[in-house]
Amino acid sequence: SGPVLRALMPSNVRIGSAVDGGLLASDERYRARLAADFNAVTAENAMKWANLEPGPGRHDWTASDQLVDFAQANGQAVYGHTLVWHSSVPSWVVEGWPRERLRAVLRQHVTTTVSRYRGKVWAWDVVNEVLAENGTLRDSLWLRRLGPGYIADAFRWAHEADPDARLFINDYGAEGRGRKADGLHRLVRNLRAGGVPVHGVGFQGHLRADAPPKDPTGNLRRFAALGVSVAITELDVRIQLPTNTEKLLNQALLYQHMLRACLTVATCESFTVWGFTDASSWISSHYPGYGAACLYDEQFRPKPARDALLHEL
Ligand code: XIL
Repeated sequence: SGPVLRALMPSNVRIGSAVDGGLLASDERYRARLAADFNAVTAENAMKWANLEPGPGRHDWTASDQLVDFAQANGQAVYGHTLVWHSSVPSWVVEGWPRERLRAVLRQHVTTTVSRYRGKVWAWDVVNEVLAENGTLRDSLWLRRLGPGYIADAFRWAHEADPDARLFINDYGAEGRGRKADGLHRLVRNLRAGGVPVHGVGFQGHLRADAPPKDPTGNLRRFAALGVSVAITELDVRIQLPTNTEKLLNQALLYQHMLRACLTVATCESFTVWGFTDASSWISSHYPGYGAACLYDEQFRPKPARDALLHEL
């Protein structure tokens, strides 16, 4: 009943949502909405390393396979998230190991995961959140132990495992102009100049309704000018609770603004929200006092933000 987002998107831009594995397995209403509105999906947690490989060489593909099967059954593309991150590193991976051993387990993880989903995952977040707020490389286990070359290595390993997958670098806080975006732009330019197979830049977009990013359209454009695709990968727009009509309207305008930025930039390939319903969103547990960040409310009723997206299409 009524128009759905995926039917209105231009054919060269996908609209996606992060998927909560628990609800996917248990809630028919959740599955129906996910299938109706979106033609792409991202695992919210199921493809993170700590979940995929709870013990060394001991994999659990159950939840990620379920998502891939659901996507195939519903004509949805799968966006793989995420191969190399400072977070969700399995507890059996030990920082004090010799450098070559650490590098070998990371390489094995990338190769095993990308190979398993070769031809089934259209794009991977190869590295996630590698930058610090000032635009330099983030201090992480990988930087400390492997040095800055881990980023190029990860892209090369992923490319070897699936030469057809689109390979993205993904980060937050770089949606608008600023030091972090400048740093990301420099990094991508240098990687490309070095022949590293980086095909796209993902902008997470964990935004606050009252703090819009600065000139996202112009910012996305200057990345596109590097010859890469861009994508909005994890959009949500949190509200300081309680909500009211004005806050929901500001939220709707910001969702719409971000969609417009993506549609305006020729190489923007996908627009993904980080969960579509307030019934399942990471915001309230990670940002105390905030919530109501999604397109649908907790009862799966569409909010003004969803109408605003429909209106933009
Ligand atoms: C979050 C999930 O939504 C939570 O369920 C989990 O507890 C922590 O990770 N940037 C990312 C995502 O790249 O992987 C994060 O997802 C949100 C921030």
